[in-house]
Amino acid sequence: MMLSDDARVIAAIEKQAAKGASVEAVLASLRAGLSLDAFGLLMIGLPRKDLPALSKLLPRMAADETQRNFTGDAGVPLLVQTVSFVRALAYNYAALRNRSLSGARILDYGCGYGRITRMMYYYADPAKIWPVDPWDLAIDLCRDSGLLGNLAQSDYLPQSLPAPEGGIDVMFAFSVFTHTSRSATDAALAAMRKHIADDGLLAITIRSPEYWSADPQYAANAAQLTKQHAKDGFAFVAHPRNTVEGEATYGDTSMTLEFLAANYPDWKVVGTDWAMTDVYQRYVFLQPA
Ligand SMILES: C[S@@+](CC[C@H](N)C(=O)[O-])C[C@H]1O[C@@H](n2cnc3c(N)ncnc32)[C@H](O)[C@@H]1O
Repeated sequence: MMLSDDARVIAAIEKQAAKGASVEAVLASLRAGLSLDAFGLLMIGLPRKDLPALSKLLPRMAADETQRNFTGDAGVPLLVQTVSFVRALAYNYAALRNRSLSGARILDYGCGYGRITRMMYYYADPAKIWPVDPWDLAIDLCRDSGLLGNLAQSDYLPQSLPAPEGGIDVMFAFSVFTHTSRSATDAALAAMRKHIADDGLLAITIRSPEYWSADPQYAANAAQLTKQHAKDGFAFVAHPRNTVEGEATYGDTSMTLEFLAANYPDWKVVGTDWAMTDVYQRYVFLQPA
């Protein structure tokens, strides 16, 4: 899978790391020498016995089982989906805000085990990246793997986030608003609004109504949920084990663009996108209104 040119670049950077180069210097060399996909392949393969110095500086990848538990897939097939989203994020940030992701201050909302945060090192140094998640298990997984950046635990119903106010250029929440209840969605969008820069961009993913008929666990009530989606612009089924303050904040969610526009007037929907790699994650781009 890895090209011989990439292997040579990585071997040279391993030598640089072995001589004591900083993680910032190592990341700069990796960005200059590798494509985004090659960088991703390196990241998902760590730690590696043949790369002891790089394996010490960069985070260890989560176990396949952890990857599947958080995303439904693992390894290279999951990386293909991840890269697809990251390219769409970089393209839409450039197209909508006329700026490059390189050097941006980036917040990964609901980061899980740090899947997409790892890819953000291709663009920005760890000091400029804020991975946050309310689940202690997710935070423990990130910490144990040596995930780099301003990792912090957020709240399920946040009023603000552990990040600078007005100080984030790019925020994304992948496969988060596809799961949050109405009140968790409201709280998150209000909290995120406090931290986005005036010229920033937020990318979220939402589910289309087709999701309800596609997921076999909803075979019995797909028609009713599809109807609810059409009527309210929002449909949610709680996963009963996840309750916070007596309320189920997590489950499965679909919503419309009209719902976003009508209920969150301090955000403006400025673009949408999707990728064939995962049609049930529709990307929506918002900027502060
Ligand atoms: C399906 S996983 C996606 C993880 C990661 N974004 C990814 O794509 O690999 C959903 C994540 O959302 C987090 N989460 C759950 N409730 C949340 C809430 N109210 N606000 C933010 N994140 C939440 C979970 O802890 C979990 O890590």
